[in-house]
Amino acid sequence: MTDLHREPSDIIAELEALRAADAPTHGGRVLSYVYDSGVAELDELAGAAARLVQPVNGLDPTTFTSVAAMEAGVVGFARRVFGGDDDVVGSVTSGGTESCLLAVKSARDAWRSARLGTPRVPRLVAPVTVHAAFHKAAHYFGLELDLVPVDPATGVPALADLEQRLGDDVALVVVSAPSYPFASLDPVGDVAAVTSARGIALHVDACIGGFALAFWPDRLPAWDFSVPGVTSLSADLHKYGYAPKGVSVLLTRGRDRQRHQYFATTGWPGYPVVNPTMTGSKPAGPLAAAWAIIEALGEPGFRDLTGRAARATAVLRERITAIEGLRVVGAPVGPLLAVATDDSLPAERRVDPHHWADAARASGWHLQLQPGLTQSDGTVLPHTTHLTVTPVTESVLPELTAALHEAADAVRGVPPVDGALVAAGLADALPGGAGALEAAAASGLDSESAAALLRAAGLLGDGGSGGGVSGGGGAGGALPDRMAPVLALVEALPGPLTERLLVELLARVVEPPRR
Ligand SMILES: Cc1ncc(COP(=O)(O)O)c(C=O)c1O
Repeated sequence: MTDLHREPSDIIAELEALRAADAPTHGGRVLSYVYDSGVAELDELAGAAARLVQPVNGLDPTTFTSVAAMEAGVVGFARRVFGGDDDVVGSVTSGGTESCLLAVKSARDAWRSARLGTPRVPRLVAPVTVHAAFHKAAHYFGLELDLVPVDPATGVPALADLEQRLGDDVALVVVSAPSYPFASLDPVGDVAAVTSARGIALHVDACIGGFALAFWPDRLPAWDFSVPGVTSLSADLHKYGYAPKGVSVLLTRGRDRQRHQYFATTGWPGYPVVNPTMTGSKPAGPLAAAWAIIEALGEPGFRDLTGRAARATAVLRERITAIEGLRVVGAPVGPLLAVATDDSLPAERRVDPHHWADAARASGWHLQLQPGLTQSDGTVLPHTTHLTVTPVTESVLPELTAALHEAADAVRGVPPVDGALVAAGLADALPGGAGALEAAAASGLDSESAAALLRAAGLLGDGGSGGGVSGGGGAGGALPDRMAPVLALVEALPGPLTERLLVELLARVVEPPRR
């Protein structure tokens, strides 16, 4: 009998105290990151299923045959609801990013194997609204990312702009159903017609919306495997599949195409390695949870939950549109919304969406701020605030819409934070002034200089490397009270500098305190 160093009950009590400081995962107050079905029974079931397979290693479905059975069940369900036939096969992955990474890796390897010996760098073409997971995939797997500008009013690219970029070096085109930033539904059918005519692979990233769109109450243009030229599709079960984090599905049309996803080697003295996904050993818990939820809900249950999210989205869209000074961007499809300032109004009647989000957060509603972006053609996508709507949102609509109205009233007429001013303030706080900032942007930063800049910006506490972010209080750091100035800085500073600073911030947030 091993003596335990601490009482399990004490440890759990400590964890409960830590959890109490988290943003609330249930109850609809956080409108991003979490997907609350509002059905406590589903969470219980997911927990019980995950617990049952806790010791299992998902690495080997021939040894742990429950993994094979559950994966076949999940992939079979996904294939059916996404209009796939028997030629569509798939894998369960750890999340949206892994599904996207693997879609790109498979397409790159298929492209290469058809052009043996080519020294060319393959291209990945996608609208600029494509999820950042594809930036990561291009970076990891050595593809050139070719982003097509979208119409700032709708968030959708012109087909001609996308078609113009197609060539023999394009390994993959990616479209979204819908996109995260604006909930825009890319023209999947039109794009598929031009990619399939050229024999180019087409991935539909339905990570966020897939399991909602498949059950959406309104008729939508075809966006899934019912479109012949779609070669792969990703959809996350840890979003509108209501499973705990760590589970997504990647479906591919054609076994031969899908086999490029695998890595296999017998070239070492250990067990033969055959991995369909990025990891080796892997948990079976998220898979078991997703499988159990699918079994419990069936298609009628998904339809019912989607109906709730859809109704809540329609009401929110209407109510936000009625708030003077704000507008919903484009024609969102699915349970997401992006909200921008209504710049048809005079400045004193406008509402800046970032101030609005900060004001809503002060009353306990967490909306997500998104930066503006200048596209390669010079057009500017507005800075917005994002709302992910879930089934539980329907039950909090009166409080939420009241809070959104009050937040708008509190900040109407307040001009957006001037990023250039914040950046200048930051430069002033540095020993070398503006020159130091420019030098930092040009030359890259070591971690101490990056931390000094973060402290000057008020984003990192002084107390050692693991110090909290200002205004948060508590270990590890929480967000500052106001995010609008942070986003203004993101918009104003050169991208590589902001990225370096954010890396430093995240790295320091999880660093143990210095001894
Ligand atoms: C469209 C889209 N693709 C990919 C992802 C990445 O998913 P994950 O965060 O599960 O890695 C997301 C996440 O929100 C998304 O919205």
